[in-house]
Amino acid sequence: MTPPSSLLTRRHLTARLSAFGFASLTLPGLAEAQALPATPACEAPASGARRQTEGPYFTPSSPLKRDLRGDGPGETLVLSGFVLTRQCQPLPGALVDLWHADTQGQYDNAGYRFRGHQLSDAQGRYQFITRIPGFYPGRTRHFHVKVQAGNRPLLTTQLYFPEERAANQRDRIFHDSLLMQVTAAAGGQIGRFDFVLAD
Ligand SMILES: [Fe+2]
Repeated sequence: MTPPSSLLTRRHLTARLSAFGFASLTLPGLAEAQALPATPACEAPASGARRQTEGPYFTPSSPLKRDLRGDGPGETLVLSGFVLTRQCQPLPGALVDLWHADTQGQYDNAGYRFRGHQLSDAQGRYQFITRIPGFYPGRTRHFHVKVQAGNRPLLTTQLYFPEERAANQRDRIFHDSLLMQVTAAAGGQIGRFDFVLAD
């Protein structure tokens, strides 16, 4: 596996993460980076994240896996955020399942390439390190996710890239409430999305 430090330098990553208000990193690896503050910044109670179709390519029982980069080539993206209640309380131990296409727009429907799940930590934080997915016909660039916490309803939705304005507008499933915050870093991108779960 490629050492993470060769993809995103500590200096650049720290600068970019600081722009999001992230705590200092505990490199040597991106995989060890706890990239979010201990508590989220919230205002009034939020509505739960919009639900979207899981599409035809969901595979259950994905591996517990944070770093999906070894599953194929492509530009690195670190995806982080909180899992929260509508009242902005963090939800520890929430299962966050991520799956997406490879750079060619292909899903692995026989195995678990670019499929993995994480449990949110004690502060409700999750993080994946993966590759930016490619396009496939009829869709803009996107991630698929399922988020489950306790007895709350399962959230199935998708995440989108703000720089894909034209493709997003052509996509019939796209919704702007599901845009990640994405910023460029040396050797990759940093994505941020907080999942607010319904009661
Ligand atoms: Fe998809």
